[in-house]
Amino acid sequence: MRIAIYPGSFDPFTNGHLDILVRAARIFDHVIVGVLVHPAKKCLFTPEQRVDMITEVTREIENVRAIHFNGLLVDFCRTAGACAVIRGLRAVSDYEYELQMFSVNKQLAPDLETVFLMSSTQYSFLSSSIAKEVARYGGDIRPLVPPNVEAELVRVFRQRG
Ligand code: PNS
Repeated sequence: MRIAIYPGSFDPFTNGHLDILVRAARIFDHVIVGVLVHPAKKCLFTPEQRVDMITEVTREIENVRAIHFNGLLVDFCRTAGACAVIRGLRAVSDYEYELQMFSVNKQLAPDLETVFLMSSTQYSFLSSSIAKEVARYGGDIRPLVPPNVEAELVRVFRQRG
């Protein structure tokens, strides 16, 4: 059984994330979306909200589930029995950060592979931050995020006024 972890902040999960996840789920037997609990970073959504949104989006993909994790990614992978980490690459600008993470993880867990999937062209500009920015100012985020995430973003920013 080949298990992969797709880790990230997912604050919130976008259509770009979904694209990578669907493709990863075709390659691996099981994919666990690992939502990082950031001790310092201020996120818009709680880890539970982020996991719930992903669970809703992926309810029809049988070999995917979402959970949150604390601490080192390599420890989470070990506990889950994962052989690989999935990361999406959008543009050259992602490369340095991804190389750094890859190198640290490789040093900590030499047997763990990182598998990079290139973003589909239509999502190469998309990030959670961009989706939040557009939502904050009332723009149409339907092309950017799944419908339940759109509803949550609209609700949160309406509440904040
Ligand atoms: O969506 P992001 O914020 O780019 O994801 C980054 C993430 C969660 C994959 C990365 O920060 C991570 O793995 N954090 C866990 C702590 C860790 O293992 N750090 C060492 C490797 S950088």
